[in-house]
Amino acid sequence: MNDKELVAIHAAKYVNNGMLVGLGTGSTANYFIEELARRQKEENLKVITIASSQVSMIKAQSLGLNVIALAQVSEIDLYVDGADEITSDMTLLKGRGYDLVLEKLLAKAAKQFLVVADKSKLVDRIGTNYAIPIEVMPFAWKTTKRSLEAAGGVGDLRQNVAKDGLSITSHGSLVLDMAFDKSISEASLNQLINNTPGVVEHGIFYGLCNAVLIADDGKIEERWK
Ligand code: A5P
Repeated sequence: MNDKELVAIHAAKYVNNGMLVGLGTGSTANYFIEELARRQKEENLKVITIASSQVSMIKAQSLGLNVIALAQVSEIDLYVDGADEITSDMTLLKGRGYDLVLEKLLAKAAKQFLVVADKSKLVDRIGTNYAIPIEVMPFAWKTTKRSLEAAGGVGDLRQNVAKDGLSITSHGSLVLDMAFDKSISEASLNQLINNTPGVVEHGIFYGLCNAVLIADDGKIEERWK
């Protein structure tokens, strides 16, 4: 069993009967979805789920999990998802995929948000390995880019995988992948991007998770706030 699978299975132990559970997106979250489906089948676990992306919804449904829409609820019990980067103060970078909006809504709506990752995701500061994905309203991308550049941001619109067009998120937004100077703290950057007109959502998850579960060579470390 690899570290991602190990930590995802560990996180699934926090799921109890009757819970409304948010499902993340990515390879680690996929293992969590599979474990929930296994527990439902073999242990008669009763859960309702909400997916953070189309791909997770399709996976969960294909495994027999009951998936409802976010519009039906105002709060969820538990959200388990991966991350692209994790700092020691539990700030996250997410959104390498195309589902930032739902991911942040689930993180905010959850009574508990657990992050599952292997140790490759631990960084000293956000932006170490990836630019910050910033979803922008398509008609506003130029003015929004200019505002972010005025704050020291450097980057451009994300292209699609074939590099023959632009990436469009599930929410219909364009994505600016922007890097910022190391001297700006995560808290300030979060605030700055939150306050930039034209931004729909961005990949810094600041003060949103309750715990980070890290797998390192077969061992799991839990860091709680
Ligand atoms: C999805 O948009 C991201 O926020 C994921 O949580 C992230 O890419 C983690 O993916 P892996 O679990 O595959 O590393």
